[in-house]
Amino acid sequence: MYTTSRAAMSASSQQTNPSIASRAVKEGDPRPPASALPATLLARVHSVRPIAEGVVSIALRPASPDVGFPAFTAGSHIDLHLPNGMVRSYSIHSSSGESGQYSIGVLRDRSSRGGSSWIHSHLKTGDTIRISKPRNNFALDESAQRSVFIAGGIGITPLLSMIHRLRQLGRNAHILYCARARTQSPLLDALLEMAGDQLTVQCHFSDEARSNADIKAFLSGFAAADHFYCCGPSPMLDAFEAACEALGLPHIHVERFRAAEHGEQPAAGGQCVVELARSGRSLTIRRDKPLLKFLLEAEVEIEYSCEEGVCGACETRILAGEADHRDSVLSKSQKASNSAMMPCVSRCRSDRLVLDL
Ligand code: FES
Repeated sequence: MYTTSRAAMSASSQQTNPSIASRAVKEGDPRPPASALPATLLARVHSVRPIAEGVVSIALRPASPDVGFPAFTAGSHIDLHLPNGMVRSYSIHSSSGESGQYSIGVLRDRSSRGGSSWIHSHLKTGDTIRISKPRNNFALDESAQRSVFIAGGIGITPLLSMIHRLRQLGRNAHILYCARARTQSPLLDALLEMAGDQLTVQCHFSDEARSNADIKAFLSGFAAADHFYCCGPSPMLDAFEAACEALGLPHIHVERFRAAEHGEQPAAGGQCVVELARSGRSLTIRRDKPLLKFLLEAEVEIEYSCEEGVCGACETRILAGEADHRDSVLSKSQKASNSAMMPCVSRCRSDRLVLDL
């Protein structure tokens, strides 16, 4: 079985913010009706603390006693709804056993368009901010006897939460933690504190080694039955996937911060009919554009966030018909089954598509 995790994001460089999903308000965007906006929770910033050069850990707690933070599973992320209209997603690095608090890591992206730079410049202890409920597209397979992780810089955040969970389960794990320098290694101390019989930690700092980590050599010490997880910059993810394929390691899970390239042919032109089963409505739309645009124009209630096919917020069940999948969330087999789609980037392939909306 070839398992590709349905989630996480990776960055194009270690300076890239790991925001899983990011949606900036763009001029000319069709604005969603109020009913389309996702339900949010009001959180208070409990603490902001530096955890590496250009990286802060932000602990969020309910803003008032009537706000409940739902439990989350290891690998989850939340969206931050910033006052400047942007929505940015960040992985939770704290233990899923810790209730009433979500801790996230935020890297100040050198090419930030106002997301991570706003957070670093403005967000402080005591502030309130709207957040989404946790969502998990990068789930830990808790049945695996041994789990192997490769983290690139800020990519450690969801993996640390997974390692917490494996410790609770008494399972063995190994991690290769790569960064440009020790000073640019968020949560390294927290990781090293957990090292022991159940967890082996191998670090690779490019400035000390004067080379990049040999991912294939690291992976070659493990077995096909193990589960392998990688979160980091895109070149690292590409190297990880290539190494796993070459070594015949089938259980791989990656999280992408940015959408993967799609080399497929453009969708067929013409129109198709989209039936919305719950409301009984029917829309005749173009086949060469992502479905979300038409759903928002028709004021259909649907959650969305990144609009890049990476966060999973807009996942919609398909009841009949075939989608032209363009996302980086669903695995190959999930796409082939046509049981769900990400309408923010995916389109209609069949003449008729019935959705659970
Ligand atoms: S809005 Fe993020 S996958 Fe569709």
